[in-house]
Amino acid sequence: MDVEHIRSILHEAGSRVCPMSWAEGRFSLLDQRVLPHEVKWLPCQTMSDVKNAISSMVVRGAPAIGITAAFGMVLALKDGIERGIGEIHDYMHTVADSLKSARPTAVNLAWAVDRMKAAISRARGDLFQTALNEAMAIWEEDVQANIKIGLLGGELLPEDGGILTHCNAGALATGGYGTALGVVRGGIGLGKSLTVFADETRPWLQGARLTVWELMQDDIPVVLNVDNASGYLMSNGKIGAVVVGADRIAANGDVANKIGTYNVAVIARANAIPFYVAAPVSTLDKHTPSGRDIPIEEREAAEITSFAGMETAPEGTEAINPVFDITPWEYVTAIITEKGVLKPPYDSSIAAVVSE
Ligand code: MRU
Repeated sequence: MDVEHIRSILHEAGSRVCPMSWAEGRFSLLDQRVLPHEVKWLPCQTMSDVKNAISSMVVRGAPAIGITAAFGMVLALKDGIERGIGEIHDYMHTVADSLKSARPTAVNLAWAVDRMKAAISRARGDLFQTALNEAMAIWEEDVQANIKIGLLGGELLPEDGGILTHCNAGALATGGYGTALGVVRGGIGLGKSLTVFADETRPWLQGARLTVWELMQDDIPVVLNVDNASGYLMSNGKIGAVVVGADRIAANGDVANKIGTYNVAVIARANAIPFYVAAPVSTLDKHTPSGRDIPIEEREAAEITSFAGMETAPEGTEAINPVFDITPWEYVTAIITEKGVLKPPYDSSIAAVVSE
């Protein structure tokens, strides 16, 4: 398994954007902080580089964070072996805990790190090669899952019209292809005539900067709107369905996703518009009973008291910046996974696809 193989899968699926690369023993990330103005790749040589890249949002989006953390484990292992660390498994436990703390809400981070830990513990022979193979497998499986999600979800979309999305749950947020945007790609692949309406997604502008850029790369029609316009658009017949991604889905079907998703879901329900959540099975968290138990990341106030480096609120403003919210399961029409389209009651439909 190698990067060229993953690239060829993406190429065949018609998706040109991929946010990460592994070449000649080096892991690199497409720096999402500077898109769309600059297309810049950032090399990560150590596990600390990877951890910083995750916490500073060089890479973001739950599945992409998970894959990146898996490569962080590979780099840490390489370093540990080269430095002749005796208790390598104890060392990797410490590394795993440190990586997991980079961002708290996306469950794919802990999922990928735990999977790497298990593969390394089981390994006999070349530890490094085993770890690298596992990281590549996590990456490829994510891409394959997204393509399957796209095929299943594409069927659910209307034949034509507007599809509203919030944040960026596309190729940039995954190993490639995307979850919510993968569903749009799937629908277009079925011959549907769809236009994505992208919420700009304050304050980090994942919609304006990333979703619009990514869809333009693949010639998919996209219209940008401010977050507060989504209700107006839904009430005016412009939107046939909403599709979003997820950072974590609790065992009862409550969904953690980018702040503002809950507002969109409530207005979608008020307008009888289907609200779909697209996510791989690695985002389903059977250990978290409900949305109330999901840790919600808060980021610094400066993200909302300033814009493009300029202060937009009076000095000394007290601000609160939770970056995810919880959409109660009752508002979710279906959860589209690679193992099938899940419908309420979610406690049983989720349990059926999540293995031990
Ligand atoms: O803060 P971010 O940009 O990491 O938030 C990302 C999201 O909320 C995405 O919708 C989610 O991770 C799903 S990505 C397929």
